[in-house]
Amino acid sequence: EIYRASTTAPVNIAVIKYWGKRDPKLNLPTNSSLSVTLSQNDLRTHTTASCSASYPAEDSLLLNGKPQDVSGARTQACFRELRALRKEVEAKDSNAPKLSELPLKIVSENNFPTAAGLASSAAGFAALVRAIANLYELPADPTELSRIARQGSGSACRSLFGGYVGWEQGSEADGSDSKAFEVAPASHWPNMRAVILVVSAAKKDVSSTSGMQTTVATSSLFASRASETVPRRMKEMQDAIKNKDFETFAKVTMMDSNSFHATCLDTYPPIFYLNDVSRAAIKMVEQINNAAGKIIAAYTFDAGPNAVIYYLEENEKAVAGVFKTLLANKEGWSSERGAAVEGNYE
Ligand code: DP6
Repeated sequence: EIYRASTTAPVNIAVIKYWGKRDPKLNLPTNSSLSVTLSQNDLRTHTTASCSASYPAEDSLLLNGKPQDVSGARTQACFRELRALRKEVEAKDSNAPKLSELPLKIVSENNFPTAAGLASSAAGFAALVRAIANLYELPADPTELSRIARQGSGSACRSLFGGYVGWEQGSEADGSDSKAFEVAPASHWPNMRAVILVVSAAKKDVSSTSGMQTTVATSSLFASRASETVPRRMKEMQDAIKNKDFETFAKVTMMDSNSFHATCLDTYPPIFYLNDVSRAAIKMVEQINNAAGKIIAAYTFDAGPNAVIYYLEENEKAVAGVFKTLLANKEGWSSERGAAVEGNYE
């Protein structure tokens, strides 16, 4: 007999960045963060979790058809927590099959480039955790699942909700209060749009995990970012979202991206995620905003050169249109898929 469950989880892009851990084992952050969830039509991970006594004894994970190592501490932490919760179900109900004792087979598919700084680990761990929770018939409270997904990858905790999602840093040593919360559902601000400029689909050279550790250890800008700048902006951002105040949303988004990349540059040895094309995209957004006489576009960059541009639907032509025209006119820059514009710039 094979037991099986499937789910999808969306990609989220932080507008207030998570960068720094106070506990690298539990993925407990040094500051709270906030993200916008991208439409699942465009970017998502689809995951099927199954278990069976007929499977080989080792748990396994296939991502886009390739076997992945599941022996890492992060994946193991997710499996262990979910099995413990399943054991509670089995202890309460003697008829419940002992799924916690069966090997797991996880099959995941991303519809976007893996490790291109497109938050693939976020959607990946969120989908993995929810698929197993569904398989184990655990209560699917996204906040509770977010605490488990966080241990897989910090940013994954924000992919268990849709729309505008916060991650409360928490203060407990065991991480029990470090979890995601909904700021507003996507329907609250339905005309929000994002376009992604894929500057490079190559794997990033400095992983976020190791990059943020080096920043915490060496950057002198980092402390004030974590203790002053981000707490203030978390509040500003939540108010901007509640009031659907795009100009404030956009300004805080751009300034937080700049602040994060400044701490990267202030890391020793320095970390460069932005490249010349990224900087050209920043200039382009500035020109778009200057031409409009107000802020109608915002850029943000994660641990890679790809730009995510936020704008409102009514400004589609003035924002995404400009980027799409640019892409269309440049040789070798390619296809468009939903909200994502892909261009092979390198
Ligand atoms: C720049 O969540 O990938 O995208 O917890 O080590 O897996 P780990 O890090 P990860 O870091 C994401 C960093 C970021 C900002 C963000 O998403 O908030």
